Amino acid sequence: MNKTVSDLTIIKNTRLNHDNYLLELQSYIKLEGIIPGQFVNILVSDSQATFLRRPFSIFEVNYHQNSISVLVKVVGPGTEKLSSLKPSDTLNVIFPLGNGFSMPMAKEKILLVGGGVGIAPMMQMAKDSRELGAEVHILLGARTKMDHILIEEFSRFGTVYLTSDDGSVGVKGFVTNHPVLLQNNGFNQIYCCGPEPMMKAVAKKAKELNVRCEVSLENAMACGFGVCLCCVTKTTGGNKCVCTDGPVFNINDLSWPI
Ligand SMILES: Cc1cc2nc3c(=O)[nH]c(=O)nc-3n(C[C@H](O)[C@H](O)[C@H](O)COP(=O)(O)OP(=O)(O)OC[C@H]3O[C@@H](n4cnc5c(N)ncnc54)[C@H](O)[C@@H]3O)c2cc1C
Ligand code: FES
Repeated sequence: MNKTVSDLTIIKNTRLNHDNYLLELQSYIKLEGIIPGQFVNILVSDSQATFLRRPFSIFEVNYHQNSISVLVKVVGPGTEKLSSLKPSDTLNVIFPLGNGFSMPMAKEKILLVGGGVGIAPMMQMAKDSRELGAEVHILLGARTKMDHILIEEFSRFGTVYLTSDDGSVGVKGFVTNHPVLLQNNGFNQIYCCGPEPMMKAVAKKAKELNVRCEVSLENAMACGFGVCLCCVTKTTGGNKCVCTDGPVFNINDLSWPI
């Protein structure tokens, strides 16, 4: 689908836990061919503090209802405002932006790894990969049991594994401590999104296991479409804009010391 700027109407704003909200947005432009990993850039109006648009991964697309969902973790004024929106409020959104994940082939065994709000691009990825006939495994990491959300929803599309920093649910420690990632489980591809240290650790593990791996970067952004250059990252091919050349990159193309 070509990128577009459009007013979307809030259908539902669901509070998932203490700091996460799921916003379902009605589109009046026909949604088609959105690739998991692509994102939206939302104008949060009525405040000097939120002059710049805020980027969010596309969490799920409902083509039947012509709606998009985004998962919002409240960290500052923009996300605070989004968390307070009510049905029938509208948001000005540029979408779909960036390049998404390379989709797996039928029968491929894939591992999706999401840390914190980095689980956001993994829902549509799990859904579409399952539809393509891939065997989907999903490893979700969070600080505590309270921070884990949407586990049941993820389990509709694959086998879910959990870690928590404090051991209150799943395996104690980081996602890289989980046996599903420690052992060679025959994965054809690993896809990851989360805090940068976590993605680097997963990338290192993927390299050791010789498994193809893509990560979705969340560098700070402004324009979202390649003009302001505030989102650049170093790659083996020089500096690239995360908003247009990414946010998804193959780990071999990044200048990460792994
Ligand atoms: C491609 C992309 C996809 C994203 N997807 C999601 C998503 O699905 N759900 C979600 O909740 N958030 C997502 N984010 C992060 C989200 O854009 C920021 O949390 C949001 O812009 C913060 O706005 P704010 O006004 O609430 O806070 P601000 O006042 O802008 O920031 C509050 C604090 O958060 C930090 N921060 C802001 N942006 C980021 C970032 N990108 N990475 C790390 N720290 C940051 C700031 O440094 C500051 O300390 C994504 C970011 C990118 C680039
Ligand atoms: S956010 Fe402006 S160039 Fe990427």
